[in-house]
Amino acid sequence: MIGVSEQVVIARPGTELLRPASWDAHERLGDEDAAIHEELEAEQNILSVDRFSLFYGKQQALHEVSMGVPAGKVTSLIGPSGCGKSTLLRSFNRLNDLIDNVRTEGNIYLSGQPIYARNVDVIELRKRMGMVFQKSNPFPMSIFENVVYGVRLAGERHRGVLAEVAERSLRGAALWEEVKDRLHGSAMSLSGGQQQRLCIARAIAADPEVLLMDEPCSALDPIATGKVEELIHNLRGEYTIVVVTHNMQQAARVSDYTALMYLGRLIEYGPTKAVFVNPHRRETEAYVTGRFG
Ligand SMILES: Nc1ncnc2c1ncn2[C@@H]1O[C@H](COP(=O)(O)OP(=O)(O)OP(=O)(O)O)[C@@H](O)[C@H]1O
Ligand SMILES: [Mg+2]
Repeated sequence: MIGVSEQVVIARPGTELLRPASWDAHERLGDEDAAIHEELEAEQNILSVDRFSLFYGKQQALHEVSMGVPAGKVTSLIGPSGCGKSTLLRSFNRLNDLIDNVRTEGNIYLSGQPIYARNVDVIELRKRMGMVFQKSNPFPMSIFENVVYGVRLAGERHRGVLAEVAERSLRGAALWEEVKDRLHGSAMSLSGGQQQRLCIARAIAADPEVLLMDEPCSALDPIATGKVEELIHNLRGEYTIVVVTHNMQQAARVSDYTALMYLGRLIEYGPTKAVFVNPHRRETEAYVTGRFG
């Protein structure tokens, strides 16, 4: 009887071709097999991922991922839960170093310099790549002190310079108008969406080259999400942005390029519109039309 019910499931319209195909493809998928669209070849990459693998103990979370991240563009990482998006994002600024038993193979290059090399100053590396997390994490201090935190830590004491950094960063994060009269009030009194923009302001205050964002809007309402998306759009050009999102409409709205990951592998990577409208791989089509994942 179990066999019959399995057949019923497999025979459901729309799934019968895709389920087996995606699993087969996964079995077959070799290191060179990711569909990387040719438009990416014309780009100047700020980050280059070269056959990068990552293991949590014995469990392999990334399998020989190779991709470039174009400078000044917004790149989205999408894919089903557990496929390795956050792991890859954290690998860019070596946040995975903080987790026990993590081992890597291959390398990632920032402007041609290897990120995984013995002599890399990880603190310096993280200054060059700001990170914004899913849950906003303002420090329990004033709005002003949150923004200038890193700059102060780096030794800047001049009030005028700090004020200038705060204003520039808050304007950059589209928060200035809302907070300019309460800069010395607690950051904790801001709304969720404002707190997330404050975290973006704090990240850009350090003048990073790359902004890494892990589901920055998942805790926000549609209006706050709209503001953060607009911000991502406006920061493009000045910064390179890599954004992990579960929301495919968001990827379509904010990003120039989209990479689909599945089970720790890069499946397809190309201009966002092409990935959504004219994907090269069947797994991508199945995912973007909501048929698996
Ligand atoms: N700290 C950790 N220790 C052990 N395994 C981990 C750790 N973090 C992630 N993993 C495993 O690595 C794999 C990839 O996880 P990751 O968090 O990168 O996925 P994700 O694509 O970001 O998923 P989600 O969409 O749910 O956030 C998963 O199998 C996960 O269980
Ligand atoms: Mg994640």
